[in-house]
Amino acid sequence: MTDIDWDALREVAISAMRSAYAPYSNYPVGAAALVDDGRTVAGCNTENASYGVGLCAECGLVSNLAMTGGGSLVAFVCVNGEGETIMPCGRCRQLLYEHAHPTMLLETVSGIRTIDEVLPDAFGPRDLERVN
Ligand code: THU
Repeated sequence: MTDIDWDALREVAISAMRSAYAPYSNYPVGAAALVDDGRTVAGCNTENASYGVGLCAECGLVSNLAMTGGGSLVAFVCVNGEGETIMPCGRCRQLLYEHAHPTMLLETVSGIRTIDEVLPDAFGPRDLERVN
């Protein structure tokens, strides 16, 4: 995928970030992704007074993906309150992996990376095939 408009996708993430509910960390996050059928999905972090149950922006994004028809993610970026690209946390790399197209790309703090580079040797759906 050389034709991904990363600036446009980052703008969607920035817009999502502006909807964040982050009164405890004061660290709003927005995430945006392109889906293999051309859709764009997005999410923002949504914190909770019970700190541990707060939702990362990627949680909203994958829910948005399912709600709008499913599919696989081909490009992803997430940003902080300054609009700077940040890394998805470890848990969210796993969330993204579940829905990743095999060639999924992410804009990261060290450039464009594949999903396999940001979550090497991932555990995933295929590991469960033998028991299901
Ligand atoms: N956060 C995300 O939304 N996504 C990430 O990948 C990193 C962290 C949120 C969780 C929490 O609301 C805030 O950033 C500070 O950790």
